[in-house]
Amino acid sequence: MPIIEGPARRLSRAGKGRHFLKTVFVLNGPNLNALGKREPGIYGGKTLAAIADDCKQAGAALGLEIDFRQSNHEGDLVDWIQEAADKAAAIVINPGAYGHTSIAIHDAIRAVAPLPVAEVHLSNIHAREPFRHVSMVAPVAVGMICGFGPLGYTLALQALAARL
Ligand code: DQA
Repeated sequence: MPIIEGPARRLSRAGKGRHFLKTVFVLNGPNLNALGKREPGIYGGKTLAAIADDCKQAGAALGLEIDFRQSNHEGDLVDWIQEAADKAAAIVINPGAYGHTSIAIHDAIRAVAPLPVAEVHLSNIHAREPFRHVSMVAPVAVGMICGFGPLGYTLALQALAARL
């Protein structure tokens, strides 16, 4: 069951008003719902709910509405990227393992250009197994932050806020 929190549903008919333009979708891919108990030596002990709280706090300081979601299903992420074209000013995405494999997510991001997208990974994917060194998202993202744990989400929001 995908996790959806935030204002996008409420704002779905809001058109392109000022409030609406400051919404950032923060999208999370497979297995990230298990943060806190999943391989804490790699991903740390923080839960995804706590990361969502961090994002909302950082968003409030930056004047951004945060719409924080997670799904284990590739198609949900594609749907949400498409939805962001009409409802968000930018996307932060931790695509999880789909970042290494998903041409569909790559294509979805290309299709919503020039919507700025920041890729985040908690771990340093370049210091891990070779299959994690490739990102399908990085070529279509504004930038990528990896290896700084949950702080990466806040850094990505700051970077996007500076562009908006
Ligand atoms: C991850 C890195 C991916 O390689 C892995 O499949 C994940 C988490 C990260 O945040 O470090 O699920 O995206």
